[in-house]
Amino acid sequence: MAKITTAVLQKMKQQGDKITMLTAYDASFAKLFAEQGVDVLLIGDSLGMVLQGHSDTLPVTTADIAYHTRAVRAGAPDAFVIADMPFMSYATPEQAMQNATPLMQAGANMVKLEGGDFLLPTIKALTERGVPVCGHLGLTPQSVHLFGGFKVQGKTAEKADAMVRQALALQEAGAQLLVMECIPQPLAERITQALTIPVIGIGAGNVTDGQVLVMHDLLGISSGYIPKFSKNYLAQTGDIRSAIATYVSEVKAGIFPAKEHSFQ
Ligand code: KIV
Ligand code: NA
Repeated sequence: MAKITTAVLQKMKQQGDKITMLTAYDASFAKLFAEQGVDVLLIGDSLGMVLQGHSDTLPVTTADIAYHTRAVRAGAPDAFVIADMPFMSYATPEQAMQNATPLMQAGANMVKLEGGDFLLPTIKALTERGVPVCGHLGLTPQSVHLFGGFKVQGKTAEKADAMVRQALALQEAGAQLLVMECIPQPLAERITQALTIPVIGIGAGNVTDGQVLVMHDLLGISSGYIPKFSKNYLAQTGDIRSAIATYVSEVKAGIFPAKEHSFQ
């Protein structure tokens, strides 16, 4: 398989080839995911919940993300790797530049930031200095306390219009990829069509240019509760390699996410 770069991701959008993305936090899973053809590995700050056991992502530090990025890079030397910038590590462009440095040096190919308009100068500053940026709009978990819970975003016409405008602004500022989390499928479709950069969805329907899941949700590890937008591929297949291969093939074929995993 060809090595994934920002140029390859861009070409995949143009050709209508779905992009598969999955969180990874250690070398062993990173290697297995890369071997099964996952296009992009994300060191998500979801690790605060699934690895560290917190109830949200706010306690995660840049050092935590750098540690796991090094592990993922060691396990998957050729993978396209995105590292999340944690809560308040990019509150100003200066902080963003300072904190993106150890993540890129740990082996990331790109960093991901949550938010809209306030990030425009930051995205410009990072990309001008050689740090590729992935945006993240919709349910941005670092703002869970502002939202009053993990809730679907962009449900009113005004909020939907504002999100389309913000997505375009992130692209204009230099973002090369955008994650849209937990938004109604019609809004995800509007944004995917409006943008020239690839849009990766989670809880956004099968209309985006690609999909991302938290590996613990895909494998049914997160006990008790499985988010509506996720699917337990391990229960369906019985072994981890087949679970990942099935996720990849269902995303590529547009089978996942189905209607029951999406918000209308
Ligand atoms: O932290 C994470 O895992 C993420 C994905 C859910 C997009 O940001
Ligand atoms: Na995240």
